[in-house]
Amino acid sequence: MTSRKATARAHPNIALVKYWGKRDAALVLPHQSSFSVTLAPLEVTTTVELDAGPSRVELNGREATGAERDRVLALVNLVAHEAGRPLGGVRVVSRGNFPMAAGLASSAAGFAALARATRAAAGLPDDVARTSRLARAGSGSAARSVQGGFCTWQRGQRPDGEDSFATQDFPESHWPELRLLACVVSGAEKDVSSRDGMAATVETSPYYRAWVEDAEAEVPRARDAVRRRDLAALGVLAERNAWRMHATALAAEPPCCYLRPGTLAVVLALPGARAKGCPVYFTLDAGPNPVLLTTAEHVARVEALARAAGASDVLRCAPGGDARLVDGALF
Ligand code: DP6
Repeated sequence: MTSRKATARAHPNIALVKYWGKRDAALVLPHQSSFSVTLAPLEVTTTVELDAGPSRVELNGREATGAERDRVLALVNLVAHEAGRPLGGVRVVSRGNFPMAAGLASSAAGFAALARATRAAAGLPDDVARTSRLARAGSGSAARSVQGGFCTWQRGQRPDGEDSFATQDFPESHWPELRLLACVVSGAEKDVSSRDGMAATVETSPYYRAWVEDAEAEVPRARDAVRRRDLAALGVLAERNAWRMHATALAAEPPCCYLRPGTLAVVLALPGARAKGCPVYFTLDAGPNPVLLTTAEHVARVEALARAAGASDVLRCAPGGDARLVDGALF
């Protein structure tokens, strides 16, 4: 059989209302809906070749093994299932253009690009809902990197997960002045992955139920703030949602703490900056590095503030576009 190959590129995303906890670990179904924005110019490029001999997976220059490799091959198997035929051995090469130390989930962009490329290589038609469901199977947050701009991942109700995928609420062009600054305050590998941290939180945090109810209710409010391009409303909401996610994780047994002194140094500097007229708010995923929300005119001031508070690197981002097929295969 002739080999079939495709290459796709996707942006990572940062959740403004976070996903934290699965109701079905095997299918990657969340307890609550979440809402995010993609981060350009950060991107991951992934090339997939089907019928390529023994399966090989290379992520950011090293051969993937164990669970990491299994997750990639499991996604390819789902595509084979949809295509109704085996796809043979697969070769996957994936590369990000941003420092892994930034703690931005390259897995979200990576699985979105992998889902897009594998479906194309298998000859399946472009379909954002199916691609998002497929990306979700690799990593939940990847469901939200299939389309650009601002996306909601609906938790869905069905046990088979068919109604659990992300859709775009607003394209990246909706809010051209919005800026997101990823601040590196620690390059250390985190001790507990998102996957393990959220599982421990679901099982042991007494605050978990409250978290789920609160976060679900915040999604339409966040969408409304974006619709109005209201940075103060969105920023206040993003901050409280991040604090609440970390609060429920901190209440797990044993506690799950992703905050580091450098994290607090940056986020605790923000109220003072706001008092001086600089609109800046933070959000924080399952790691130490905050992402700051501001507008284009305040970017230089916000970057200076983050560096003065100890950030060793600051990546300036703005909302990015859809995951897309590109020329320029990686092998
Ligand atoms: C804190 O999507 O990385 O970034 O589904 O287990 O692969 P898995 O987890 P992942 O978790 C992301 C958690 C988060 C919040 C978010 O992105 O919504």
